[in-house]
Amino acid sequence: MDAKIASLIEKLRQTHHLDDAEYLELIENRTPEAADLLAQRAVEARQPIYGTTVFTRGLIEISNICKNDCLYCGIRRSNHNVERYRLEPDVIVACAQEGYQLGFRTIVLQGGEDAYFSDEVLGDIVRRIVATCPDTAVTLSMGERSRDSYQRLFDAGASRYLLRHETADRRHYELLHPKEMSWERRMRCLHDLRDIGYQVGAGFMVGSPYQTTRHLAQEMRFVEDFKPDMCGIGPFIPHHDTPFRDEPAGTLELTCYLLSIIRLIYPPILLPATTALGTIDPRGREKGMLAGANVVMPNLSPVAVRKQYELYDNKICTGEESAQCRGCLGLRMTLIGYELAVDRGDIRK
Ligand code: SAM
Ligand code: FES
Repeated sequence: MDAKIASLIEKLRQTHHLDDAEYLELIENRTPEAADLLAQRAVEARQPIYGTTVFTRGLIEISNICKNDCLYCGIRRSNHNVERYRLEPDVIVACAQEGYQLGFRTIVLQGGEDAYFSDEVLGDIVRRIVATCPDTAVTLSMGERSRDSYQRLFDAGASRYLLRHETADRRHYELLHPKEMSWERRMRCLHDLRDIGYQVGAGFMVGSPYQTTRHLAQEMRFVEDFKPDMCGIGPFIPHHDTPFRDEPAGTLELTCYLLSIIRLIYPPILLPATTALGTIDPRGREKGMLAGANVVMPNLSPVAVRKQYELYDNKICTGEESAQCRGCLGLRMTLIGYELAVDRGDIRK
């Protein structure tokens, strides 16, 4: 292997820091050998903190109604071919309770930016889950809201929030979103969430349209500086009813390479092996774990609506029951020497 790349990996392992030019070089000049070494170092860095334990989050996709029009997303408001749905509060609480019975101790409520889920409605759902599922963390992933709204939901009992920044570069953000959306507002939301006391998950897509290696180096800088508690990264996958329908998907190889780098930048970080990674490769989630991930997020949504939450084409797990998904992932993890935890799965920093 190139001696320079090996020395960059060693520097990252020891100092958890590289300069911008060094990140660029590490990503641009990657080889299969470099990926193997990085993955090995990432697994070593994760070992003393999490061992072979995999944290699970039960994901409930509560609405595919969205006021936004992100150019990459299958549930964007301009897509008139989607059959829209929103789950009733009683159904959401029942899904969470089913998840609890299955061993989930983190429930993630995710959805489009649907005005129906006001602070009152969403706060009430959060309170009901907290009251009936002991020792369970409620995570929200409901997009951009005001600081007051985030505060009210925190007061209702939500303790984590996932809001991918999508790209650390403002101009790149503008190429992926309509002009009424703003990168500054996205970043401000992340800072508001952290100030309020949430554990915060950021993240980005790998291989999104117009993304360059320089952007990816910026992503690594963002992780180093902001140190999110969680970083959701998965390949961009085109959706046939969006303006990016003909764009190529991101790759498994690059996603895994970046997972390893992120693990070395911030060893305690929570890193999901995402559904998108499992969609582009049948063993994508396993390969993500072996590259340094430590979280999986199986689906707890009612099977009847799963196909309607289609952010990208060919999304996996749309026909399986919740128990099947948990069982399937448990088996997949056992086969590579890992085990699913019945645990809130807080970051160990
Ligand atoms: N509305 C919330 C938000 O904006 O954070 C949560 C739902 S949003 C659909 C969840 C994530 O899906 C986005 O942050 C984006 O990164 C990812 N996503 C959307 N379209 C995608 C695509 N075509 N390929 C891969 N990931 C995609
Ligand atoms: Fe859903 Fe495998 S994780 S079926």
